[in-house]
Amino acid sequence: MATKKVRCSFCGKEEKDVRKLVFRKDSPNEGVCICDECTMKCMGMLMQEESKAQAEKDVTIAASDMRPTRIKKFLDEHIIGQDRAKVAMSVAIYNHYKRIENIHLDKDDEVQLTKGNILMMGPTGCGKTLIAQSIAKLLNVPFTVADATTLTEAGYVGEDVENIIKNLWIAAGKNIERTSKGIVCIDEIDKIATRAGDKGRDVGGEGVQQALLKMIESGSVNFTPDNAKNRPQQDVITVDTTNILFIFSGAFNNIGNIVQNRIGVSGLGFHSDPMQNKKENDMELRRQVETVDVIKFGLIPEFMGRIPVIVTLDELDENALLEIMWKPKNSILRQYERLFEIDNIKLTVTEDARKAIVREAIRRKSGARGLRSIFEEVMLDIMYEVPSMNGVSEVTIDEGVVLKQHDPIVTFYQNAS
Ligand SMILES: Nc1ncnc2c1ncn2[C@@H]1O[C@H](COP(=O)(O)OP(=O)(O)O)[C@@H](O)[C@H]1O
Ligand SMILES: [Mg+2]
Repeated sequence: MATKKVRCSFCGKEEKDVRKLVFRKDSPNEGVCICDECTMKCMGMLMQEESKAQAEKDVTIAASDMRPTRIKKFLDEHIIGQDRAKVAMSVAIYNHYKRIENIHLDKDDEVQLTKGNILMMGPTGCGKTLIAQSIAKLLNVPFTVADATTLTEAGYVGEDVENIIKNLWIAAGKNIERTSKGIVCIDEIDKIATRAGDKGRDVGGEGVQQALLKMIESGSVNFTPDNAKNRPQQDVITVDTTNILFIFSGAFNNIGNIVQNRIGVSGLGFHSDPMQNKKENDMELRRQVETVDVIKFGLIPEFMGRIPVIVTLDELDENALLEIMWKPKNSILRQYERLFEIDNIKLTVTEDARKAIVREAIRRKSGARGLRSIFEEVMLDIMYEVPSMNGVSEVTIDEGVVLKQHDPIVTFYQNAS
């Protein structure tokens, strides 16, 4: 029998021209196969389809149906735990919605709805940005995230606050009208707090707060569409910021102490474990944060005057982290399962392994963010090796793999060659 050249059934490339040809596992002799490049292309297509379908499914609230309870339900689909924060956000967002949609009661036409910019307080990786992002999706408005620590007063080296609005404008497909209804999330706002007792010029702190304040207050922001500042007659773009919602977020470590000093409650709790006790107490204190505490922390009163809503998020506990790992439609576990599925391999991550991952995430104090990095560490070697193994049917990750005691367990098809 003459040997026929084996080619990818999709692009026709020969085996020698590709890194890997994958054959139909039940009948390797039929010559139906796919190369690594086509596999990657298919994967890209699948993922694109998936996120498109997801996006369409996500925006489901009709205008007539927009109510805090409905917004909360939407948030429940994306954010695990954080119930109090979700309720507070639902109310704030409902009010914002009325404002941007110009819905007002006839008899109260004179009443101007003031904008309720929001401060979200909570530890790293607990879902602050995720909530803000989900809300932008729900309202179908552009969204951008900026990091307060990279911002500077005009004239200093760093990013000008105008750039934030420019990024929003880019996210809005350069549509000025859409930009003016967007949501801006400014992270790490606690890092630009002024510190009592700090000496010298406060480049990063109060100056930036003043610059941000100007941006929220002024009603409009100008920027040039590209960075070529040396082109004098370049158009300047002006965005009306009156209706842009600003969501500030930060960890505000130790703000619980400030609350405690104000309310003057002794720190007696009810847990036998002193560490747990301290944690519970701190969370309880944080939930009672008021504007005065934030000012004491170091945000200037004029700035806080523009942020009437404060929402506190809790640290995610073990159960929440476990749920986050698998439950959301786009959870990290599902993403990995999908990656293996494309190679026709079943990925199993045992309950014990999941718990070990969660414990490690808690140890690292990076909230749900830690889940992804730990997963990546655990999966790296096997993700590297498995594409060049033949006939793999299943990969199992158990507790020992997470604890680096042994390699992932690889199961092969019976008739593997
Ligand atoms: N409460 C949560 N529910 C579901 N996923 C979460 C939650 N908190 C964090 N995550 C996951 O962790 C990632 C980082 O969270 P993020 O919202 O950026 O944290 P931060 O509070 O630091 O802004 C998110 O993209 C999401 O995958
Ligand atoms: Mg964030």
